[in-house]
Amino acid sequence: MALLRLHRHPGALFMNRPNSLEHFWMPFSANRDFKQDPRLIVSAEGMYYTSEDGRQIMDATAGLWCVNAGHRDPRITAALLRQIDSLDYAPSFNFSHPAAFELSARIAAQFPEPMNRVFYTNSGSESVDSALKIALAYHAARKDGTRTRLIGRERGYHGAGFGGISVGGIVRNRMKFGTLLTGVDHLRHTHDLARNAFSRGTPEHGAELADDLERLVALHDASTIAAVIVEPMAGSAGVLLPPKGYLQRLRAICDKYGILLIFDEVITAFGRLGTATAAEYFGVTPDIICCAKGLTSGVIPMGAVVVRDEIYETITGTSETPIELFHGYTYSAHPMATAAALGALDAYEQDDMYGNVSAVALPWEEMLHGLRDCPNVIDIRNLGLVGAIELAPRDGAPGARGTEAMRRAWDLGAMIRVTGDIIALSPPLIIQPDQIAELGELLRQVLSSLR
Ligand SMILES: Cc1ncc(COP(=O)(O)O)c(C=O)c1O
Repeated sequence: MALLRLHRHPGALFMNRPNSLEHFWMPFSANRDFKQDPRLIVSAEGMYYTSEDGRQIMDATAGLWCVNAGHRDPRITAALLRQIDSLDYAPSFNFSHPAAFELSARIAAQFPEPMNRVFYTNSGSESVDSALKIALAYHAARKDGTRTRLIGRERGYHGAGFGGISVGGIVRNRMKFGTLLTGVDHLRHTHDLARNAFSRGTPEHGAELADDLERLVALHDASTIAAVIVEPMAGSAGVLLPPKGYLQRLRAICDKYGILLIFDEVITAFGRLGTATAAEYFGVTPDIICCAKGLTSGVIPMGAVVVRDEIYETITGTSETPIELFHGYTYSAHPMATAAALGALDAYEQDDMYGNVSAVALPWEEMLHGLRDCPNVIDIRNLGLVGAIELAPRDGAPGARGTEAMRRAWDLGAMIRVTGDIIALSPPLIIQPDQIAELGELLRQVLSSLR
């Protein structure tokens, strides 16, 4: 079968399996289930992983929305080899290395004006925490220190730190972890199957949901609100797309009340929608952008917070202490991470990978919406190189159908991601039309086989 390619002799089955699976406590995973029936990956190239039993598995999720350049891009590998040969580590507290500055200029050039200042982290979660702290520090620097309230959105995902889960809106990520940050409130989410099911691209209905910020301003008063953080396109909660005009309206309300607007672009920055940022795609410039993942194409952990000049200038210009922001990480701008990021940006540019997203966006949309007739499908969504197939939950077992789909896809030769009963798809930006067709055929088999 074309979709199930064996690379090694069947005798090689399971030769890569470790002696014990007990000691690794896997994050956000069904540990007990996985250890009964592990899905182990031993190598990768371009659009494909190789499983421990020698099968080629199409990476339909770019790992975890991060391997944007495809696996083992030679430019990233070469940059890392050069780097380890010259400088392994340099601190960023009061010292630095040239590549950190070069990378910052390259990022600033890709991000909307006037977002030109870059603060480095090691992950999306740290980018979110850093962005929230920068927002508070900015208002304090302006002697507007009553602005401490942070506004997130229901169903938002902003990583796993206490800041991120406080402004985040996914119940299971919050419910076991105490009272979280105080002074946080949430906008209503924008997911509306009744009005928007099977929309192609951004949905028509729901711009007025941005006015929910007016409700929170009326409740708390603008003078207590520091920032609003949203994913311009929510990924982890199951690909929830912004209704047409929603982000513009949110920007206008933030402007009206002097509230900072933070876009969490951990999954959208670096090409996911065919542009460097979702801010550019939607034509809405926030005050702060969080990024990570695609920054290094997932090869080395790295995140960044990119801010408007005025935010940097205010915090540094008004500081009464030599250190202007008491915040940072041992590994901020780690030389290996900056090398990987420079390699990734080279790869994106040299092969016009963002351009490829725009070029394949239509076949991608057609493939996804062609699955509408499959059993249990209640919605299909797409934007750029992102897709979602929402399945009706099985009676009494929400999430079971989604998990079954993930396992079935792995058996047939694709890595897909599920949130509950929503299948989320986000392949590397290098995907070609024949691979989209291959994925479509596989997904049809998966969907048709579900109970
Ligand atoms: C929008 C968003 N913010 C933050 C994060 C957290 O990133 P990390 O897992 O690198 O901490 C993610 C991860 O998926 C994300 O999608």
